[in-house]
Amino acid sequence: MSKQFDVVVIGGGPGGYIAAIRAAQLGFNTACIDEWKNGKGGPAPGGTCTNVGCIPSKALLQSSEHFEHAGHHFADHGIQVGKLELDLAKMLSRKDAVVKQNNDGILYLFKKNKVAFFHGRGSFVKATETGYEIKVAGATEESIVGKHVIVATGSSPRALPGAPFDEELVLSNDGALRIPAVPKRLGLIGSGVIGLEMGSVWRRLGAEVTVLEALPTFLGAVDEQIAKEAHKAFTKQGLKVELGVTVAEVKTDKKGVSVSYSSAKGEAKLLEVDRLIVSIGRVANTTGLNHEAVGLKLDERGAIVVDDDCKTNLPNVWAVGDVVRGPMLAHKAEEEGVAVAERIAGQHGHVNFNTIPWVIYTSPEIAWVGQTEQQLKAAGRAYKSGTFPFMANGRARALGDTTGMVKFLADAKTDEILGVHIVGPFASELISEAVVAMEFKASAEDIARICHAHPSLSEATKEAALAVDKRTLNF
Ligand code: FAD
Ligand code: NAI
Repeated sequence: MSKQFDVVVIGGGPGGYIAAIRAAQLGFNTACIDEWKNGKGGPAPGGTCTNVGCIPSKALLQSSEHFEHAGHHFADHGIQVGKLELDLAKMLSRKDAVVKQNNDGILYLFKKNKVAFFHGRGSFVKATETGYEIKVAGATEESIVGKHVIVATGSSPRALPGAPFDEELVLSNDGALRIPAVPKRLGLIGSGVIGLEMGSVWRRLGAEVTVLEALPTFLGAVDEQIAKEAHKAFTKQGLKVELGVTVAEVKTDKKGVSVSYSSAKGEAKLLEVDRLIVSIGRVANTTGLNHEAVGLKLDERGAIVVDDDCKTNLPNVWAVGDVVRGPMLAHKAEEEGVAVAERIAGQHGHVNFNTIPWVIYTSPEIAWVGQTEQQLKAAGRAYKSGTFPFMANGRARALGDTTGMVKFLADAKTDEILGVHIVGPFASELISEAVVAMEFKASAEDIARICHAHPSLSEATKEAALAVDKRTLNF
């Protein structure tokens, strides 16, 4: 007899493990199945985010930023360091230890919340009278039944046609996080989020980095003014980004990788590098789910079709995170996971897609929430804008990091905040205030009238809100 659960979650990334914990908190007998293996073949829950995404990339961004500061910025503070040496093996093993802490943390949370964890691949077998039978293929094979099933199987990197990932020369995000020696010349295809974050890591550690991007504009989804400022900063740091290219062919040999492409002007060009990271987006993980067995509907890109409430075409089958529509972000996956567990409990779980923040953890950091100026223009919405540069912020000057600005966009009539865009130090932390403000439908004036600590970077947020009404105090 298969063991019966109220809720079975397939996938233990941020969407799945958080959904499982919330379901257990709500009193459901819950199981979570995840197949990720650590180096020893043991369980490593946390998905892409914990194992080869958010967490390890931020660990390396932090380490490489320390390295860059020690090499280039400590002297400005009157600190002389001797000959700087990089212990890359130590840096990578620290990153692995941070990942393991997170894997272990999730296993602990499963125990604490009485979530039954199954290590292996979950796939649909059939619909039964009491739910859906799911086969778990791990070290052993077993079968469980869930009255409700939440699919949270995530996504995988998309390869360039004709250039499969070998993780030696042609790297996905996985290989990009464990290059054993700093390459002299590193190429990246795609100047999206991974391209900029991983490009920054390896540039700071000494690689000469060239990024080839298909689109004619840099960071097209970002507010144009912010993207321009970021582009200026990255170029100054030595990150080379070539826009508007068409990649024709990728070849590998003993010497490395050569990429033939045509430039924006149509000239045939060749990029020769020691290693190549391909970061051109990700695809939903639905192969191996045996979705056909129960008739679970996928779209033409292989993602699971869901409505606004994350309901699939099947009764009591839900899907969340990267495997469904919407931005591929860990916090979006988590919010959907919580909302689904609450809906199963008859509550009114809700995800506000208008207030999902985005952060790119480069230096300067880029963060935003809400609409960009170009989106407002395209929608014909009357708006006011206000900006404040970190150059005029006392804390930023004390930090020695005055790149960038905070930008507010507010409705021309009501003053309601429509978007906040930040490029600069700790933008990832500063954006939370804007998210809260937008959730509460605050006006720019609301933020302008709130007392912000001095000296703090958040004063730049207050000043940008004041700038909407053309009355900054410090600029
Ligand atoms: P995943 O995290 O992909 O988890 C899915 C899990 O399901 C995996 O463990 C997988 O092995 C498992 N699985 C798949 N199929 C099965 C099956 N049939 N049976 C059992 N298990 C299965 N987002 C941010 O918000 N902030 C960041 O800073 C950030 N940085 C990133 C950096 C990189 C390099 C990358 C690649 C991504 C980053 N992301 C970031 C995106 C983020 O990682 C994803 O949006 C997030 O992990 C999605 O969560 P998920 O639960 O939907 O899927
Ligand atoms: P992306 O969608 O951010 O960027 C892909 C880039 O590649 C785009 O600029 C696109 O125009 C370009 N591109 C596509 N095909 C190309 C081609 N053939 N030649 C040249 N350029 C091409 O995807 P990326 O960087 O792979 O990241 C995947 C997702 O992971 C992100 O969209 C994001 O959701 C998530 N992520 C989030 C992070 C964060 O929140 N800080 C960090 C890293 C990833």
